[in-house]
Amino acid sequence: MAPSILAADFARLAEEARAVEDAADWLHVDVMDNHFVPNLTIGLPVVQSLRAATTLPFDVHLMIEDPRRWAPGYADAGAYNVTFHVEASDNPVSLAKDLRAAGAKAGLAVDRDTPIEPYLDLLPSFDTLLIMTIKAGFGGQKFIPAMLDKVAAARRHVKAGHLEMRIEVDGGIGEDTIAQAAAAGADAFVAGTAVYGAQDPAEAVRRLRGIAARAMAEP
Ligand code: DX5
Ligand code: ZN
Repeated sequence: MAPSILAADFARLAEEARAVEDAADWLHVDVMDNHFVPNLTIGLPVVQSLRAATTLPFDVHLMIEDPRRWAPGYADAGAYNVTFHVEASDNPVSLAKDLRAAGAKAGLAVDRDTPIEPYLDLLPSFDTLLIMTIKAGFGGQKFIPAMLDKVAAARRHVKAGHLEMRIEVDGGIGEDTIAQAAAAGADAFVAGTAVYGAQDPAEAVRRLRGIAARAMAEP
């Protein structure tokens, strides 16, 4: 379970990260460049500073053009996982290699309008597959159930190939949608609004984890 800081108070990022430290597995850090997506968030200097402020591993989600130029910097800054978009990369496998060499796990993200089939063969080079369940760019959007077909296809492929990797969903994940995502085969969950929009973010993370765990345990 990875709370997304996109829904946090950016003036209090360190406190907002620490508020979920005991409940979450990772902190999902959304980097947007106003080119790959219209929105703009934070970049490397902020992530470097935030790295020192919390013990939570960082799940960095790069929604940027030219990830080859920037992604390794996030690995060097101590990110646990660095995910970049397949739509923004001309050689995803080579960049994944570089990220792993820099000590991070490598993630491939697939946006709403991108089919998954052409990229399934790349998965052995990755540790994480991030399937957007909204159009990347903004928090607070409505979950798109049709994206779960991609999750299920990816899960079948990962199972058949005995791949060691996570399938992560991002966008509109909350108490009403997380079970469907888990049932379709996701095993990592990003939630912004559902966590930081709650009275008690840590408690919200625990509840979401509980729902996902129960859904994953069902045959
Ligand atoms: C959007 C980001 C998401 C975003 C999700 O492009 O990648 O991580 O924070 O926000 P919610 O959970 O509010 O849909
Ligand atoms: Zn994200």
